[in-house]
Amino acid sequence: MTNHLYNKYVKNMTLEEKTAQLLQLAAPFFDKPGEHSEITGPMEELGIQYETLRSAGSVLGVAGAEKMMAVQKAHLENDRHGIPLLFMADIVHGFKTIFPIPLAIGSSWNLELAGQSAEVAAREAAVSGLHVTFAPMVDLVRDPRWGRVMESTGEDTYLNGLFAEAFVHGFQGDDLRNDLTRVAACVKHFAAYGLAEGGRDYNTVDLSERQLREYYLPAYKAAVDAGVKMVMTSFNIVDGIPATGNRKLLREILRKEWGFDGVIISDWASIKEMVAHGAAEDDKEAALQAIQAGVDIDMMTTSYINHLPELVQEGLVDEKLIDEAVLRILELKESLGLFENPMRGADPAAEKEIVFCGEHRQVARKLAEKSSVLLKNEGVLPLEPGQRVSLIGPFANSGDILGWWSWTGSKETAVKLGDAMKAASGNPSHIVIAEGSGIDSISEDQLNEARKTAAKADVIVLAVGESSDMSGEGGSRSNIKLPEAQLELIRSMKELGKPLAVVLFNGRPLDLHGVYDQADAVLEAWFPGSEGGAALADILYGKVNPSGRLSMSFPYSVGQIPVYYNSFRTGRPKPEQETENRYISKYIDIPNEPLLPFGFGLSYTTFEYEDLTLSSEVLTADTPLEVKITVKNTGLRAGTETVQLYVCDIAGQVVRPVKELKGFRQIELDPGESSEVVFRIDETLLRYHHSDMTIRSDRGEFILYVGASSRDVREARFTLVK
Ligand code: BGC
Repeated sequence: MTNHLYNKYVKNMTLEEKTAQLLQLAAPFFDKPGEHSEITGPMEELGIQYETLRSAGSVLGVAGAEKMMAVQKAHLENDRHGIPLLFMADIVHGFKTIFPIPLAIGSSWNLELAGQSAEVAAREAAVSGLHVTFAPMVDLVRDPRWGRVMESTGEDTYLNGLFAEAFVHGFQGDDLRNDLTRVAACVKHFAAYGLAEGGRDYNTVDLSERQLREYYLPAYKAAVDAGVKMVMTSFNIVDGIPATGNRKLLREILRKEWGFDGVIISDWASIKEMVAHGAAEDDKEAALQAIQAGVDIDMMTTSYINHLPELVQEGLVDEKLIDEAVLRILELKESLGLFENPMRGADPAAEKEIVFCGEHRQVARKLAEKSSVLLKNEGVLPLEPGQRVSLIGPFANSGDILGWWSWTGSKETAVKLGDAMKAASGNPSHIVIAEGSGIDSISEDQLNEARKTAAKADVIVLAVGESSDMSGEGGSRSNIKLPEAQLELIRSMKELGKPLAVVLFNGRPLDLHGVYDQADAVLEAWFPGSEGGAALADILYGKVNPSGRLSMSFPYSVGQIPVYYNSFRTGRPKPEQETENRYISKYIDIPNEPLLPFGFGLSYTTFEYEDLTLSSEVLTADTPLEVKITVKNTGLRAGTETVQLYVCDIAGQVVRPVKELKGFRQIELDPGESSEVVFRIDETLLRYHHSDMTIRSDRGEFILYVGASSRDVREARFTLVK
């Protein structure tokens, strides 16, 4: 190795010092020598000494410039090579200024704002001493029972890839070394973590190579192509081998095929967990497999630090592998400018100015406006200024609207719905608030108070949902309805016979039985973040016209899961008209279709699509097709429409989906205004993995769909000629 970092550092390091670079530990260890907090459990078990920890390569979860600087300083005083620590944390949807959860950001279909949210998150994180964020999470998700769907932008490969790119650019910028307001990004969880069987977190994943390559890998690849600095392995197995010890995945696909030369980090304890998986006999074998597979950093276990030196001495691991891992970590430190400036962006004074500043909160508010999805509206919304509103439910004035993965955010400073509605209504006395129920409990007193409040109202707004710990990591549910207490609240409010609007706070697509059928209007707010209440109040009062479109289907019921729009065609498809035929692919008790499909969302105005035209009915490799359609705002308010383009390959070399998203445009139209939307289709857009895993297109006929959702489409046909 001729690398200058090798010559300056690696060459002079002992084997123990090198393996210490590969260790990542949570902060409390660095805080108080000798004292162990819950978070450092694994270390305690293994009897790791504070002295050893002093020589770790990176730290997890320190927030705050002063704290970070103290840890870095203490470390540098002890490190004979003067190698600074890397500080990493999960800044997933904001640091202190919390943005809507990623699934909500997915529903905005707004890549620019998504990128801005990452930029703001990076600015706040960097000034508070962080160097790397464990984001974006780009796992493809098709099972809303899995609590971590809230961290993903949804069920579509193409859309997730675009968001992955936008987030990576937002976090990293163009010049990480000199732009101290950015942080390195770490795409996760590689790979296919979103496919956990039964939606149960950490469960088995089993998928074909075609599924993996065609649907699950592209979003990670998009992050890699966008220059992401780090990749985190997933907890699950991929083709029988834990991702963390999976050579094919890490060495062949990620490093060789994709040319990724950044750092690979395990997920929390996922090296050690190979033993529990039954994929390694003991911790030592787990370390052996992980280093051979190409994992550079061991997050929160001592598998590497305790066993790698011994594995090298026994000749089982080539020291070169360790040198390479150390070098990659040092290169990351160098790319962040840490050798010259170990404190990097950390600045206690600027931190006070920048973190949670007005400008950042504006971005959060804008994104919350764009990511709420109007699911139903039968003449109730927007509210009129003079209306007396009874705002009822556990989220009527709750700060629990940040969602999971907002550990640095504060619920206390979140803008609550009730407060914001009072401000937006113009007459606070028109808004009367009652709790109605808890998340999963309800009492006669609460109900009576709610009834009494509602009796005087012109309209009832119910703010209901899941508490934020009902989704996120470890937040799998088998029943994805609202808790029974809240369904009871809805039923009893419905009995009053008044117009009823429901605002939903939740981290996953829900089974909306008992909500959608009862309410006159339903607004999906997700967990909208720090400015959530303000954005929602503006939507409810019509100052903002909702424009979100679902990036993940809402199932009719849990029995359909997984249900997603781009499913494969079957040999016995269900015909559109009713049929007596039993022997077709259907349920005998529920529809095949989800309740609300991918791409769906309403507006306070209406849009009409007309004149779908193609520049030619024939497409060749060098003459792309132009697709044009005119979209008109036929309602009375200005609004944003997301025009979606889908394609179906009628006969493929392997079975192809019913339709696949290939493009979209967002347009803003004034009442009565129309606009021509143009898409270009070229041959590369029609390529997919054939049975031999080569990526090619098939000649023949295709259907092209343009519309307002994956369900509401107009179609035309064209032929690819080679
Ligand atoms: C999660 C990761 C996260 C890591 C560090 C793990 O439990 O799966 O997404 O980045 O913890 O906090």
